Amino acid sequence: MKSNTEKFGKTPHQPSLWTRADALKVRADDPTTTQPLVSADFPVLSNEVFIWDTMPLRDMDGNVTSVDGWSVIFTLTADRHPNDPQYLDENGNYDITRDWNDRHGRAKMYYWFSRTGKDWELGGRVMAEGVSPTVREWAGTPILLNEQGDVDLYYTAVTPGATIVKVRGRVVTTEHGVSLVGFEKVKPLFEADGKMYQTEAQNAFWGFRDPWPFRDPNDGKLYMLFEGNVAGERGSHKVGEAEIGDVPPGYEDVGNSRFQTACVGIAVARDEDGDDWEMLPPLLTAVGVNDQTERPHFVFQDGKYYLFTISHTFTYADGVTGPDGVYGFVADSLFGPYVPLNGSGLVLGNPSSQPFQTYSHYVMPNGLVTSFIDSVPTDETGTQIRIGGTEAPTVGMKIKGQQTFVVAEYDYGYIPPMLDVTLK
Ligand code: FRU
Repeated sequence: MKSNTEKFGKTPHQPSLWTRADALKVRADDPTTTQPLVSADFPVLSNEVFIWDTMPLRDMDGNVTSVDGWSVIFTLTADRHPNDPQYLDENGNYDITRDWNDRHGRAKMYYWFSRTGKDWELGGRVMAEGVSPTVREWAGTPILLNEQGDVDLYYTAVTPGATIVKVRGRVVTTEHGVSLVGFEKVKPLFEADGKMYQTEAQNAFWGFRDPWPFRDPNDGKLYMLFEGNVAGERGSHKVGEAEIGDVPPGYEDVGNSRFQTACVGIAVARDEDGDDWEMLPPLLTAVGVNDQTERPHFVFQDGKYYLFTISHTFTYADGVTGPDGVYGFVADSLFGPYVPLNGSGLVLGNPSSQPFQTYSHYVMPNGLVTSFIDSVPTDETGTQIRIGGTEAPTVGMKIKGQQTFVVAEYDYGYIPPMLDVTLK
């Protein structure tokens, strides 16, 4: 496997590297980068469905947008099966943990609406059964396109394969609620190419998903971020000096870290409608550091590009670790170079006493961070847990230069609009 420079030599930019040295700076439980404890008596949005990744309706510039005073969110969603014999344990009790852990295989896109930016009401499924070409409907981004209420939903069609797709529909409001119409024709956009982005044939554990389209505030062009892994056969990647970074004596051994090859991908649209895309080399790679940089997204602030991405403890490479949560990087221009926020990259992690309390953090341009509750311990030892599948309390964060600070906590699932669009 070639180095970044050899591989992406003749391209407009060099991927920035999240190095092992950067990751060695990660400090769990630093109060400025740790999510407040989520209490085990949290309310659930629904007893019928689990929800996890939450995707607020927004415009192409990243602003969370309400329509006619209604806030709208999309969520990855799966039925709960409290009465299904398949999910009963040996004592005949509902094994909610197993049901929850199986959810990815039956993930569907649902939407919710609200007048208050919380207290979400279930709208229903976005696409009827049979519309999406694959079994799983994985994360992406709903974009409000205009004052007619047209919405492009970019998402990931998974199993078989993993394809970045889009489907167009429309949001319709009344005094009583919101409905979505259309969302009937899914258009495949692109898949991993095996040259820049790893394919399933190169690695059965590849990741290629989570599209996040945006308009670059500087050049005005349409781009898209997504999660990928660096191309190449599994095990062939080199963790060299560049990937290791400036480590202290005794930290040179990289173990089996060549198996962790996450990257943040970027594509540019060839047209104004975002129907025709060209993949570019990754913005950021984490070879030898971590295997997943999921749901990448931007906040554009103070003329800078704040790149956020979620990651897990279990996807870190040998010799480095960090909490489940959201990580961030900052650059002065779109193509970098990106520098890890807070030195390490860690922006908002779970406290070590509740390592799985939340995940899938999404940083909004107003500094609010939404996430979902995964599982919260209900006893001292952490052996008993309560499964979430619902919205977590929103966290308020300040972004200042190359640092971030947790400054506030809000209600469960609080996602207030940044602007309201009156439909014509
Ligand atoms: C993040 C994530 C996404 C993916 C989805 C699958 O929580 O892993 O990357 O689209 O969940 O359920």
